[in-house]
Amino acid sequence: MTKITEISDLKPMYRARVPRMFHDYVEVGSWTWQTFQENSADFRRLYFRQRVAVDISERSLASTMIGQPVTMPVALAPVGLLGMQYPDGEIYAARAARDFGVPFTLSTMSMCSIEDVAEATAAPFWFQLYTLRDEEFLRNILARAKAAGVSALVLTLDLQIQGQRHLDLKNQMTAPPRLSLRNLLNIASRPAWALGMLGTHRRSFGNIVGHARGVESLGDLMDWTSRQFDTRLDWARVAEIRRLWDGPLILKGINDPEDARRALCVGADAMIVSNHGGRQLDGAVSTIRMLPHILDAVGNKIEVHLDSGIRSGQDVLKALGLGAKGTYIGRAYTYGLGALGAAGVTQALEIIRREMDLTLALCGERDILNFSATNLLSDPDFMALGALRAPCLATSRSALR
Ligand code: GLV
Repeated sequence: MTKITEISDLKPMYRARVPRMFHDYVEVGSWTWQTFQENSADFRRLYFRQRVAVDISERSLASTMIGQPVTMPVALAPVGLLGMQYPDGEIYAARAARDFGVPFTLSTMSMCSIEDVAEATAAPFWFQLYTLRDEEFLRNILARAKAAGVSALVLTLDLQIQGQRHLDLKNQMTAPPRLSLRNLLNIASRPAWALGMLGTHRRSFGNIVGHARGVESLGDLMDWTSRQFDTRLDWARVAEIRRLWDGPLILKGINDPEDARRALCVGADAMIVSNHGGRQLDGAVSTIRMLPHILDAVGNKIEVHLDSGIRSGQDVLKALGLGAKGTYIGRAYTYGLGALGAAGVTQALEIIRREMDLTLALCGERDILNFSATNLLSDPDFMALGALRAPCLATSRSALR
């Protein structure tokens, strides 16, 4: 068996253990996968400055995210259906994050409920919320999060309607799985996964079933979910949720400077520059390229975090160097979870930590808190996006005249 030394080593094991529909659900990008690919590829347009003859014997990756201490500024992003990657997956991922000293973000669309995770980890975690139409459910879930000791609410703003993901459509992705012949055959070829799933009762959306009015069965759930994503979401609604939640609030899904300015007005504690891992608007610019433009727009008035495309500790350092205060991994730890359970999540975090530590040292830095744009070089046109915009608009306007 290949020794696991980098995140991509986890992928073959992950693919072999998890049924195709759940594997594809994590891996998928929307439409042509352009944004998915550029999210990662654009990190390679940034370079490190190699510095030598610096005493690097003592090094630190410790930082804070929204004022909370972290052993490294890498949180586990909310990933829907984690409990379909591995039985009780949310609990295992939350425990691994707790033991590692980084935040875990539980998705609304998880198999384990907020209460399950709180009970199993006995430590604070973050909770991701979609703005849903069912007002009673929304207020209720905020109260449940509060009661469970959730230490930050992560409000997703970029999934009021779903980007088209061809693999999911072809696989008829649902949880629990739709038992088409193709899916049944695939599940039969993953006996370890199937056996594990038989050993847990958490095989449906634990935050919703039994909590949303009228949702008792799988059919009700499908119906309810399809009606919930609120396409009327606007900034007034975001401000209302800010008022309903009196703890730390993180706004997720900002990928434009104008939206960043609006987000600032809401009074959130942080925003995540995110394009949903290239799963929503294909053709959107990668988050690492948008980050400097967003920081220009909001200055240091709010903490800015970044996700989408991070597959290594080097990617994390590049985001921090450009000015992000924190980062998130999603697919990177899900590969580990699906392949090996909690140990795989820890392994993914270890890989990222080692890569960050060594890169920091080779850049001649000791403390991650000092890592900045002065440690980076970029392609000449990496920042050109902003400069391109105005002339482009001007040209098209004059062409219209
Ligand atoms: C949900 O957030 C998804 O990307 O499927």
